[in-house]
Amino acid sequence: MINFSLPRIDSDKKIRDLLLPYCRLKNGEVWNDPTGKHKVGCLDASDNSYVNKLMNNEKAVLAIHDPPYNFVAFEERDLKNFIEWCRLWIKNSYLHLTENSSLYIWLGADQNNHFQPLSDFMAMMRTSGFDSRSFITMRNQRGYGTQKNWMAVRQELLYYTKGKPYFNVEAEYTDIPKVLRGYYKVVNGKETENFERSKSEFIRAGNVWIDIQQVFYRMEENVNGCYAQKPLKAINRIVLASSKKNEIVLDFFAHSGTTLLASEINERRCFTLDIDPIFCEITIRRLENFRKNGKLGWQNSNPFEEEIKKDGKLRKYLNETIGYKEKEVVGKE
Ligand SMILES: C[S@@+](CC[C@H](N)C(=O)[O-])C[C@H]1O[C@@H](n2cnc3c(N)ncnc32)[C@H](O)[C@@H]1O
Repeated sequence: MINFSLPRIDSDKKIRDLLLPYCRLKNGEVWNDPTGKHKVGCLDASDNSYVNKLMNNEKAVLAIHDPPYNFVAFEERDLKNFIEWCRLWIKNSYLHLTENSSLYIWLGADQNNHFQPLSDFMAMMRTSGFDSRSFITMRNQRGYGTQKNWMAVRQELLYYTKGKPYFNVEAEYTDIPKVLRGYYKVVNGKETENFERSKSEFIRAGNVWIDIQQVFYRMEENVNGCYAQKPLKAINRIVLASSKKNEIVLDFFAHSGTTLLASEINERRCFTLDIDPIFCEITIRRLENFRKNGKLGWQNSNPFEEEIKKDGKLRKYLNETIGYKEKEVVGKE
């Protein structure tokens, strides 16, 4: 069997050196979608002179940010630095969002260390100009943690607003999970299962999502080489709930390009950036691959498959590290 995975691109120096020549963006550059819809910048989210380059005086109605958060070290000084860094890109988000807009942020809480950085981030947001709207939990299907420890099965998603933005509750998760079996209530004199309430004319969004599968290697949307991909279903939900067709969606941490793809599928425009030229390239290729082949990712392949076929050095390195079978890769056509 051919192994089409890639090592973690952010931490493998050699694979980075081998892939960088195939990346079309250099630091400070912006890719303009030939159809005029989207933009991808190789930029630093915390530096507004860079973000200005991407936005060019246009404003977004929705921002969906998924910053790196697991590098935070244990010393207080590092946590402080992290929060100060967050303050900068939050300020930039405020500047580039319309008067009535939504902001969603994915962030983790370390249960062994005072729930940092989530708790500190929430406190910082009190003076950001945004209003808090909801604290959403997405339940993972698989967890992590040792046998003796808690299994962490949730991902935290913060929802803030600026002004009074559009909110389409129809796109939201409104199922009341029927986990408590045997819980009945009386409706019109008859004992019923509790799910009768879902027929109520008042639909409200629920802030615990249990219907979303984490991305793993057997899913079509999987992007090999990316380590922090968010499920397309979650991003689609946010895009549909908090933006309308042809409006601009902003994402400061593109990585595998999930927000760009969700925007393409739902006919929004996406302006996104990543500080790493390799993730910018993957983001652009994910859109191109979708437009060409209708695929959401590279379940049985990876974004650099063509280069791997042609570049002997790249193939050799992958053979040595993750056991690519050179002959099979070459003979794949
Ligand atoms: C957790 S990932 C985002 C995952 C993304 N939501 C997805 O579904 O693929 C974080 C990304 O932020 C990028 N990043 C880190 N620091 C940055 C900065 N200062 N400006 C822009 N991007 C940055 C990293 O290169 C990484 O690709």
